[in-house]
Amino acid sequence: MIWSTNKDIRVVAGKSLYDAIDDIPIDGSVFILSSPFFQNSGAIDELTGRLSNVEIKTHIERINNPDITQLKEISNKYSQEEFDWIIGIGGGSIIDAAKVLSVILPEKNENKILKALQNNLVPNISDNIPVVAVPTTSGTGAECTQFATVWDLVNGHKYSLESDSIIPEYVILDPRLTLQLPFDQTLFTGLDALSHATESLWNKKFNPIARATAKEAITLIVSKLPIVLEQSDNLEARTAMQNASFLAGVAICQTKTAIAHAISYPLTYKYKISHGLACSFTIPALYELIQSNNDIDKDSLKYVEMSANFIKGLNLIEYLRTYVQPAEIVEMIDEMNNPQRFSNFAVAVNKEQLKEVLCFSLNLH
Ligand SMILES: [Fe+2]
Repeated sequence: MIWSTNKDIRVVAGKSLYDAIDDIPIDGSVFILSSPFFQNSGAIDELTGRLSNVEIKTHIERINNPDITQLKEISNKYSQEEFDWIIGIGGGSIIDAAKVLSVILPEKNENKILKALQNNLVPNISDNIPVVAVPTTSGTGAECTQFATVWDLVNGHKYSLESDSIIPEYVILDPRLTLQLPFDQTLFTGLDALSHATESLWNKKFNPIARATAKEAITLIVSKLPIVLEQSDNLEARTAMQNASFLAGVAICQTKTAIAHAISYPLTYKYKISHGLACSFTIPALYELIQSNNDIDKDSLKYVEMSANFIKGLNLIEYLRTYVQPAEIVEMIDEMNNPQRFSNFAVAVNKEQLKEVLCFSLNLH
C-alpha cells in the first residue's frame, strides 16, 4: 500500500483572524471572497484594515453551493486582474468557490477547467493562486480537502473538481467566527464532520493517516458537539469542533467518502435536505452491516460504534420530517446508486440491503 499526505497545510489556530493574518506572508494583490453576513458584521473591514501594503479586491456574494454560471461570472469580472493570494472567509461553499477561483482566475476568461468538468474530463490545471481558507462553520472539511463541489443548477449536474492544486496553503481557525452559527447549522455541519470521520474508518482505502485523524475527530465530536449545541458561545468546545472538522477533512482526503454520502446526494438535490443531516442519518444502520467485518480492526469499529450510538441519540428522523416524508426517501433508492462511493464501503451492499438500511433509519417497518 502506498499512502502519503496530500500537501503541507499551515494552520494558524488559537488567534483571532486579525492577529492570525499577520502570521501569513501575504503580499502583492489579494482577492477576498466572503458573504454579506461577514461584511455586515464588520469582519471584512477589520481584516482589510490589518492588511497593509497590499492591494485588495473584495468580492461579497451569497454562495450556497457554488454554481458553474456564478463562478464564471466572478472569474470574468476579475479577468483583467492579477492576484497573488485569495482569502476565502465563510462556510464550505465560499471556501470551495475560493478554491475553484484559485485555478480559474489565472485562466483569464478561458474557462477551460469548468468546460472540462462539464464534459467529465480531467481538467488540465497549469497555474494556481495560493488560498487562505478561513472557515466559519465546523464540518465540511473544505478548508483542507483537494475537492471542491461545483453545481450546474440549470442542467441538474453536480461535479467535483479534484486536484492538489486547490488545497489551501493556509487555514485560519478562529472559533469566534463560528459563534453566530445557528443551532441547526451547528448540528448539521458537525454531523457532516462526523460522517467524514466514520466513512473513513469503514472505507476500503483506509490507511494510518485516515485512522488516526478520524478517531480523534470522532472523539472530539461526540464529546464537544453536545456542548456547543447547549452553549453556543462556548469557545473551547467551538475550537474542538473546528479541529474535528479539519481532522475529519484530512481523513477523507485519504479515503474519500463512501455509502452514507452516496445516499445523501439525491436527497440534498431533490429535497434540499441539509448535507450533514442527509449524510449521517443512515450511519447507525450501516454500522449494523459492518460490525462483524474482519477487514476493519476492532479498535476502529469501536469508534464507528461510538459515532452510530451518538447519532441514534439525536432522533434525526424528526429533522428529516421537516423536509420530506420518510417513505419518499425510500423511493429515491435508484438515484442513490453511486458505484464509486458504494465501492469505498467495507462491504458490498445490494439494493435490498440498501432498502433495509433506509427503512431501519427511518423507522419504517
Ligand atoms: Fe460531507
